[in-house]
Amino acid sequence: VIELLLVGFGHVTRRFVRLLDERGDRLAGEHGLDTRIVGIATGRHGAAYDPKGIDIATALQRVEGGQPLSPLDASDTPPTDGLDLIARASERPGAARVVIEATPLNIVDARPAVDHVRLALLSRMHVVSANKGPVAHAHADLSVLAHKMGVRYLFEGAVMDGIPIFNLVRETMPACEVVGFRGVINSTTNYILTMMEDGGEFADALAAMQEQGIAERDASLDVDGWDAAAKAAALANVLLDARLTPQAIERTGIGQLTGDAVRQAAGRGSRIRLVASARRGRDGVRARVAPEELAPDDPLGLLRGMSNALYLETDLLGRVGITQLDGGLTQTAYALLSDLVTVHRGLQAPREGRPDRSP
Ligand SMILES: NC(=O)c1ccc[n+]([C@@H]2O[C@H](COP(=O)([O-])OP(=O)(O)OC[C@H]3O[C@@H](n4cnc5c(N)ncnc54)[C@H](OP(=O)(O)O)[C@@H]3O)[C@@H](O)[C@H]2O)c1
Repeated sequence: VIELLLVGFGHVTRRFVRLLDERGDRLAGEHGLDTRIVGIATGRHGAAYDPKGIDIATALQRVEGGQPLSPLDASDTPPTDGLDLIARASERPGAARVVIEATPLNIVDARPAVDHVRLALLSRMHVVSANKGPVAHAHADLSVLAHKMGVRYLFEGAVMDGIPIFNLVRETMPACEVVGFRGVINSTTNYILTMMEDGGEFADALAAMQEQGIAERDASLDVDGWDAAAKAAALANVLLDARLTPQAIERTGIGQLTGDAVRQAAGRGSRIRLVASARRGRDGVRARVAPEELAPDDPLGLLRGMSNALYLETDLLGRVGITQLDGGLTQTAYALLSDLVTVHRGLQAPREGRPDRSP
């Protein structure tokens, strides 16, 4: 049995535990995977640790009803936070443990997520995460640490929801070099640009998205290109072995674009999209996020609404593209699930399962 510690119990993690339940029979039958949730830590709903297992239906009910998790703790003193939860679990010897890290993105320095990941790895726990912060800020250190401790650090959900981009390269492209990439990797801005193409103005498009709950009230992370920069840094760090942070990415958002400019481009047969790109050159990896006017035959220009796509430039396969037509919560939760299966496979066959390139 793999013990799971959930650090962050928001939309993504709650969908993940429901998926784990819904797919329980297949996971057991096809993969021999059996899990027990032993700990949960949140920001405002407290935390609980019970090595015998937490009743997840009750935990869901409590958090969704705005109640604290502390009554589910096995002791009188529930963990104070995610770090305390990891520390407590590590005091008990034995079980294979996976920390599911899905706390909010902190664009500035990825804290406390990066501390959760580091402590878990140091405690010989595997980490599966949907949080791009630690990958964008500290991937090199964390992957070295994971390797040293003999555990996995996987984060398929961090970029393009559940679309297997990191898995694609790690598992299916051995000895092939990724030398650059280009993509549309922020859904909110793509949706706004599409609405502007169809006749809307920036402010109206943004307001409509906020009303539908697609964009945050504070949309600056998306609009100013920060989210795309964090994803670009994560992709560059993992696929191009860079040492970038979101702050090191040359970045222009879409806030200055007018509906007229977007529609004039469409009138010329081209499309304006927020493009994230990176390339390895003689002086290291350079990456940028900026609106670009794309030629009519550029496949990125065909992306409408919430869809995303990423094209990898490689030395042996030429350009390889992957398109996400249906991103969202289930896809991100599925990324956590598929990473968990990857960890499990490695535990079943430690020698066969070793990746030739640590993510
Ligand atoms: N939503 C998506 O579709 C999606 C897609 C791709 C990636 N992601 C990434 O997945 C992560 C989680 O997203 P989400 O939508 O699930 O966010 P969310 O609904 O806001 O949930 C965040 C969770 O983290 C908890 N939390 C906040 N600060 C914490 C801390 N210091 N220690 C422990 N827990 C803490 C929150 O607890 P309280 O509620 O009690 O404060 C909540 O349970 C983010 O990094 C996000 O960027 C999300």
